[in-house]
Amino acid sequence: MRAVTIERFGDPSGLVVTDVPGPVPGPGQVVIDTEAIGVGGVDAVVRRGTLSGFGFTAGTIPGSEVAGTVTAVGAGVDASWTGCRVWMFTGTSGGYAEQAIAPVGDIVALPDEMSSIDAVTLGNSAAVAHFALAHARFTTGESVLVRGAAGSIGIAAVELAARGGASAVAVTTSSEKRGERLRELGATHVLDRSGDGGANAPALYDVIIDVVAGPDTPAFIDRLAPNGRLVLVGAVAGMPPADFGTRLLSGFQQSRSVATFSLDTVPAEPLDTTRAAHFAAAVRGEMHAVVHDVLPLDAAADAHRQMDAGTVFGRIVLVP
Ligand SMILES: NC(=O)c1ccc[n+]([C@@H]2O[C@H](COP(=O)([O-])OP(=O)(O)OC[C@H]3O[C@@H](n4cnc5c(N)ncnc54)[C@H](OP(=O)(O)O)[C@@H]3O)[C@@H](O)[C@H]2O)c1
Repeated sequence: MRAVTIERFGDPSGLVVTDVPGPVPGPGQVVIDTEAIGVGGVDAVVRRGTLSGFGFTAGTIPGSEVAGTVTAVGAGVDASWTGCRVWMFTGTSGGYAEQAIAPVGDIVALPDEMSSIDAVTLGNSAAVAHFALAHARFTTGESVLVRGAAGSIGIAAVELAARGGASAVAVTTSSEKRGERLRELGATHVLDRSGDGGANAPALYDVIIDVVAGPDTPAFIDRLAPNGRLVLVGAVAGMPPADFGTRLLSGFQQSRSVATFSLDTVPAEPLDTTRAAHFAAAVRGEMHAVVHDVLPLDAAADAHRQMDAGTVFGRIVLVP
C-alpha cells in the first residue's frame, strides 16, 4: 500500500510517499481501506522529532485518525464488521496510508449520512473538547473562554459550550476574519491572542479550555473567576513557564484550579458513545465539521507546511 512515512524528523520535507506492506489483522484487530485521513496538530509534533523519546523512529507513518471501510478482521472480532464504514483511532501513528489497523475497540460505526471527511474532522477533536469541558465541570450558565479556538479542538469546544448553555463563549484568535467564523459557530466574544477583547468582553471566566499554553499561561490564570477552572488540553505555544504555579498561589483566595486533560484517561465505552453522539449531532446539523482543505495523500508535506504556517482554520484532511 502507499503510505507517508517520516524519513527525517524536522521540517515537512522529511515526509515521503512510499510503498509499504499492508497491515494484517491480529486477534482483536480490524483493517480498513482509508477514505479520509485527519491531519492533526499532534502529527506535526511527532514529525518535528520532539517526541523521539517516546519511541518514534525514522519510517514512522504519522496520523491518528482515519475513516473508511472495514476489509478484514482478526480472530475474535465479529465478522459482520466487514464492509462497514467506520471511524478509527490509530493511536499516535499509522494513519497516513491507504490501509490502517486498530483494535476493534478503537472503531466507531459511521452513520450513512456522515462523510468520512467530516468524521476525521470531528472524531477526536470533538471528544477532546467534550471531555475537557466535563473535566472542567462546566455547567449551564457559566462563562467559557476557548484559548486557541481556530483549531479543530477549539472549534468543537466553542460549539459544545454554546450548545451547553454557556452564558458567554469567548475565543482567542489571531484575526478578525477568524473571529467572524467563530461567531458563526457560537462565539459571543472575540479576543486577540493576548486575551484583549475590548471593553465588552468579560474580564473573568468560570472555565478556560486552553489549547495553547506557552509563556502567556500565567496571564490566563489571572482571567479565572473565583472557583474558575483552566484545563490545558494542548501546548501549541510550548510549555508554560516553570513557575506558573506561583501565579495560581498568588490568587490563593480565588480558589482557582489549573488541570491538564488527556483523552487517554477516558475509558473506551464513554469515548465511543460520545463520538457516536457527535456524529449523530453532525448529521442533524447541530455540530459542524470545519474542513480547511482536502488534499491527496501525496500532499501530506504541503498539509504540514500549512499547519506550520498557522494558516489552517479547522482541519486538513488527506484522501488516498
Ligand atoms: N488533550 C488531548 O487529549 C489531546 C488530543 C489530541 C491533540 N491534543 C493537542 O491539541 C493540540 C492541537 O489542537 P488543534 O489541532 O485544535 O490546535 P491547532 O490547530 O494546532 O492550534 C489551535 C490554534 O491556536 C492558535 N495558536 C497557534 N500558535 C499559537 C501561539 N503561539 N500563541 C497563541 N495561539 C496560537 C492558532 O489560532 P490563531 O492563529 O487564530 O490564534 C491555532 O489555529 C496539540 O497540542 C495536540 O497535542 C490534545
